[in-house]
Amino acid sequence: MVVPAALIQGASRGLGLQFCKTLLSRQPGLNVIATCRSPVQAEELQKLKSEPSTGGRLHILGVDVKNESQIEEAAGNVEKQFGQLDLLVNCAAILHPTGRGETSLKDVNLQGLQETCITNAFGPLLMGKHFGKLLTKGGGSIGVQSNDAKPNHSGVLVNISAKVGSITDNALGGWYSYRMSKAALNMATKNLSIELGRGKSKVICVSLHPGTVDTALSRPYHKNVKNLFTTEHSVSKLLTVIDSLTVLDSGKFFTYDRELLPF
Ligand SMILES: NC(=O)c1ccc[n+]([C@@H]2O[C@H](COP(=O)([O-])OP(=O)(O)OC[C@H]3O[C@@H](n4cnc5c(N)ncnc54)[C@H](OP(=O)(O)O)[C@@H]3O)[C@@H](O)[C@H]2O)c1
Repeated sequence: MVVPAALIQGASRGLGLQFCKTLLSRQPGLNVIATCRSPVQAEELQKLKSEPSTGGRLHILGVDVKNESQIEEAAGNVEKQFGQLDLLVNCAAILHPTGRGETSLKDVNLQGLQETCITNAFGPLLMGKHFGKLLTKGGGSIGVQSNDAKPNHSGVLVNISAKVGSITDNALGGWYSYRMSKAALNMATKNLSIELGRGKSKVICVSLHPGTVDTALSRPYHKNVKNLFTTEHSVSKLLTVIDSLTVLDSGKFFTYDRELLPF
């Protein structure tokens, strides 16, 4: 018997934590693997694991996306325990090591560029490298509507991107590291969609923009935001998009409202 399983990477707080909460509560048969840098310090995640309603379905693994051997080890563990994966959501990101995006060129430095791009773009790609095989074996059984595997694809890989990573949409400039990292992430999504979409078992790979959400990442900018989403609202919208995906959507970049964004 196949046990439906979803992996949320970057699950200690913010959108990643909310994905775990929502997935566990909406689909009683689903196992959720939550990865984070420091499981011991991830208090909210540990609290969720101890709740009777999660029924032992939440599994926490330590993964720093800047560490490929940890990613590989986690993939080995998931393979041993579940043998396949229905959904992978790459959530982890930083705005910049300082917590604020660069406002002009004078703020740009190599360390900021490197750390942001490694965390936001290279890490998710390495997740795709090590978990891709498990996704090809997945049944896509993550929808709230039905537990039946979707007939036209195997697993789903979601990279949580950001509208500011759209080159076409960039009218304001600034935020060099973050914008570049998300543009690179979108290229990774496209490439993954091609390589993991070649075989008989096609993995759907998409980039999704979650809206501006009330989390630590966006906190310095909240006062300028008119339509600030709660994590609950954003994740609910994102899961509606994920549930609706077909192979024809693979390689694309969507908003929380399923609006197609230009790269
Ligand atoms: N919030 C928004 O308005 C907004 C808008 C557009 C896009 N997004 C995107 O949404 C996603 C989630 O962001 P959020 O708003 O939920 O941010 P958040 O609350 O700051 O959470 C970021 C997460 O990334 C993890 N992380 C950072 N570096 C990591 C690393 N090297 N390895 C593993 N995990 C790492 C953090 O874990 P630790 O606890 O270990 O630090 C934390 O769990 C990101 O991809 C972000 O770019 C957010």
